[in-house]
Parts: sequence; C-alpha cells; structure tokens
Amino acid sequence: MIELNKVSKWYGGNRVLNDCTANIARGEVVVICGPSGSGKSTLIKSVNGLEAVQSGQIVVDGIDVTAKHANLSRLRARVGMVFQHFELFPHLSVQRNLMLAQMNVLGRARDEAAERARSLLRRVGLSGHEHKYPAQLSGGQQQRVAIARALSMDPVAMLFDEPTSALDPEMVNEVLDVMTALAQDGMTMLCVTHEMGFAKRVADRVLFMDRGVIVEDDTREAFFERPRSERARDFLSRILH
Ligand SMILES: Nc1ncnc2c1ncn2[C@@H]1O[C@H](COP(=O)(O)OP(=O)(O)OP(=O)(O)O)[C@@H](O)[C@H]1O
Ligand SMILES: [Mg+2]
Repeated sequence: MIELNKVSKWYGGNRVLNDCTANIARGEVVVICGPSGSGKSTLIKSVNGLEAVQSGQIVVDGIDVTAKHANLSRLRARVGMVFQHFELFPHLSVQRNLMLAQMNVLGRARDEAAERARSLLRRVGLSGHEHKYPAQLSGGQQQRVAIARALSMDPVAMLFDEPTSALDPEMVNEVLDVMTALAQDGMTMLCVTHEMGFAKRVADRVLFMDRGVIVEDDTREAFFERPRSERARDFLSRILH
C-alpha cells in the first residue's frame, strides 16, 4: 500500500532522510518513533507529497508520488493526514468542516455529504456537536473532528504526525481511542507518535529513526522486547522511564 524505496532528502547540505526503505501493507499499522530531528515528520510528509524528496521512490496505492508529473491532488484526496495542530477551518461549523472537501473534491451532493458527516461524528464520539465552531471545542474534540474530516474522503490510508502531542494530558486518550478503533477496523496507518502505550497495543510494526536513517523496522514485540540497536535501547529507556 505504501512503498518507500531508498528515499533520500537533503535540505541544502543537510541530509535529513538517508536511503529510507519500508513497506506498509494494506491494513497494517506502523508507528514511527525516534529522537527529535531524526526525520519522522519529513518522512511522513513525503508520503503524500507535502515534501519533495531528491532520490528514491515512493509509491502509495499504485500512485508514484515521486514521479515528475505525479497527480498529487488525486493522491492527497486518497490519503488522510492528521497533524499535531488540528487545522480545522475556524470560520466553519464542525458539520461544514466535514462537508466541504466531500463536496468540492469528491463532488458529493450536499445531502450525502451531510449524512456522511453525521455518521463520522458518531464514529468519533461527537454526535450533537455539528453546529459548533472549532473554537467551542476542546483540543481533543478538535483533533477528533480533524480525524473525522480526513475520513470523510474515504482514504485508503491515514498518516498521523504526533496527533496527541499538543493536547492536555487528559485529552490524549480520547484521541488514541479513536485511532485504536480505526486500526481495529483495518485502516492502513502510519503514525509518528511518542505514545509507546499506543504502539504496544496497536502497532503491527515499529520503525525507529535516527539522523535520517530507519535504524529498526521490527514487529512491536521485537522492538519493545529486544531492540537491536544501542540507539533504540537508549531511546526506549529514556521514553519509558
Ligand atoms: N524546512 C526545513 N528547512 C531546513 N531544514 C529542515 C526543514 N524542516 C526540517 N528540517 C530539518 O530536517 C531534520 C528532520 O526534521 P523533522 O522535522 O523531519 O524531524 P522530526 O523527527 O519530525 O523531529 P520532531 O520529533 O522534533 O518533530 C531536522 O534536522 C530539521 O532541522
Ligand atoms: Mg516532527
């Protein structure tokens, strides 16, 4: 579903992705972790073409993202992305936030988009909040709306970049619960997160990055029980206390 083959990226003389190779199969949940600055965000953004890479190949659901004339808008309509900051449209109600791209990008009729919006709000536990504006919701609620909005495009895969790291601690679990349910429903997911509890419960595999290199690509059991590299052991000992 998502194939990365020897992907490299430089900012000027600074190589931030170094021959990254990984394959994510349909229905797989893969967590990316690693120290700050290791290239996690750059890698995940390159998957839907938000960052261009200078060498290597990325193919998502049969679309070559790295091809010269890649149809990136078609790709982005099929791959949902959720960031640290929710990026909802502040001047639109929750319902309108969920309807807009369905109508403008997928060409859905208003009634169909509205019905789908309501059903997605139910799915993320926010029925009854349709007519509120983003500022009237808590951070955790806004992030759940952002997930619902991404789902409104019927994505073939979902990318998450630290979706809970800007939230107050008491709101982290409500977002992780929605992500866990999504994973259990069979969504293909690539998630940058420091939530190792989530990774232990939900991830099929863990990629550990350090200085632009995918240092480990392991099942979660192997990663947590016997990380191969010193750097991963060191990272885990700091993050798990
Ligand atoms: N727009 C940019 N211009 C120049 N360098 C950049 C840019 N964006 C990122 N970098 C550099 O690329 C490297 C990887 O950054 P990236 O944001 O992918 O790391 P990260 O693993 O997501 O870190 P964090 O955990 O802090 O989010 C870092 O050295 C960073 O300084
Ligand atoms: Mg990052």
